[in-house]
Amino acid sequence: MHKISKLAVLTSGGDAPGMNPCIRAVVRTAIYNNLEVVGVRQGYKGLIENDMYDMAPRSVSNILSLGGTILKTARCLEFRTDEGMETAYKNLKAKGIDALVVIGGDGTFTGALRFSRKYPDIAVMGVPGTIDNDLCGTTYTLGFDTATNTVIEAIDKIRDTADAHDRLFFIEVMGRDSGAIALRAGISCGAEAILLPEKETAISDLIDGLKNGHTNKKSSSIVIVAEGDKNGGVYDIAKRVEHEVKHYDIKVTILGHLQRGGSPSSFDRILGSRLGFAAVNALIAGETQKMVGLEANHIVLTSLEKALNQQEFRLESDLLLMADILSI
Ligand code: F6P
Repeated sequence: MHKISKLAVLTSGGDAPGMNPCIRAVVRTAIYNNLEVVGVRQGYKGLIENDMYDMAPRSVSNILSLGGTILKTARCLEFRTDEGMETAYKNLKAKGIDALVVIGGDGTFTGALRFSRKYPDIAVMGVPGTIDNDLCGTTYTLGFDTATNTVIEAIDKIRDTADAHDRLFFIEVMGRDSGAIALRAGISCGAEAILLPEKETAISDLIDGLKNGHTNKKSSSIVIVAEGDKNGGVYDIAKRVEHEVKHYDIKVTILGHLQRGGSPSSFDRILGSRLGFAAVNALIAGETQKMVGLEANHIVLTSLEKALNQQEFRLESDLLLMADILSI
């Protein structure tokens, strides 16, 4: 069993609201348990460049309400190489660090798992932090709730102007490989159609649906397109529809990175705090190569390998079914 004395915490990949409450929980839980804590700047890049600093309870004061991450984040290609990992390992060992909390998404966990297999004397615990909500072993990832609320607020505003002008809007939301935001936002805003990477939608069916909507006296229509949808991108889809659907003036909006910013929701503050607290306690209990998650409102541990298993990850089937039916 790993008995730990000093841990490092980092955030990696795309930032997500809730990362700061999580960092705060990690730092304070560790110190409460007489562990030393080191913050790593810019994720794995900071491990390689030795950009780390000692943290104390006051290092994380007044950050609960902040979006982004006080530790900064990055997508680090060098950490994918053996040389990069070795440098990171040596830097950690030189500081006497024997445990690592990594807060991030699938790319972060892939790096963490490889690193941990290569250097098992450093215990590793993952915290799911991504707005994409696409990991196994947790119903919610950090940031998903806030991002979805941000998207809903934006789409509600677009609906007002769409309705005023009898327009059809195509709105692209984030999710390179995940339709989680698109699906929830679509149901929450009454989108007429939702295009997702996980489910094929023929453009001819989309066109038929929009024509039916008009026949059924819909004054405006909203189509949400997840970034990772396989139909060629939101502009291309809008063009193809424009040729067939003549009764609407068509507009395209890409919500972009505004979806990732902003103060975390109550849900994400609590989730970040719970997951950070649980991650440190799991490391103290001798766990490694795991992810802390929330299932049925209970903290659970899942192996990093399983958390990354996309075969097991599914969008909720009732939401998929409901989305079509409620938008008639
Ligand atoms: O964090 C995940 C994610 O938001 C994806 O949905 C999106 O495709 C990607 O990050 C964008 O990342 P970047 O900021 O590197 O463009």
